[in-house]
Amino acid sequence: MIINSKNDYLSRIGRKVISEDEIYRGVRSAAERINSLYDGSPMLLVSVLKGSVIFAGDLMKYVNIPCELDFLAAKSYYDSTDSSGSVKITHMLERDIKGCRVILIEDIVDTGRTLDAVTKQLKSMDPLSITTVTLLDKPQRRQVDFKADISLFTIPDIFVVGYGLDCGGYYRNLPYIAEYKPDGK
Ligand code: XMP
Ligand code: MG
Repeated sequence: MIINSKNDYLSRIGRKVISEDEIYRGVRSAAERINSLYDGSPMLLVSVLKGSVIFAGDLMKYVNIPCELDFLAAKSYYDSTDSSGSVKITHMLERDIKGCRVILIEDIVDTGRTLDAVTKQLKSMDPLSITTVTLLDKPQRRQVDFKADISLFTIPDIFVVGYGLDCGGYYRNLPYIAEYKPDGK
């Protein structure tokens, strides 16, 4: 995808689906739920790259318990708005998660394949628990039986960008969630 003018860039941003205020209220409520999980065991926040980085960064500001941060990357979408159907873990965690309470932070659950595959792989590494947190959920698109433990917003089957979510690498920096208009109309 090539965007070569600011007008082109802006014209593809459709209606606002979730505002900054709504996002922040959701982020704070998710942080409170994470805080309540603390029992003295090591806690590791895991941000799934790249889509969840803004969400994870904001979320951890309101987490007030001892915790560490790590990243993993999983790819199921390539440079398009359609799923490839397969999930590849392209960057694994650096930290050993044995005995840790893992908080797995994702931008969106769509077909469910990514978090289903990642969760299964992390379980085999013997963590104390895995809690999945997603900013968005598109239940109409589900292909595998997966439900996040903490899910902030349910959206219909539309392609959205902003607050970390991209199209062709663009729009992650948008501070709210908007519908993406491929033809700019
Ligand atoms: P699955 O299908 O594995 O997909 O649950 C999760 C990944 O799909 C991407 N995805 C989107 N990205 N706007 C985006 O920018 C969307 O509407 C959207 N729907 C799915 C996303 O990378 C997510 O991690
Ligand atoms: Mg993602």
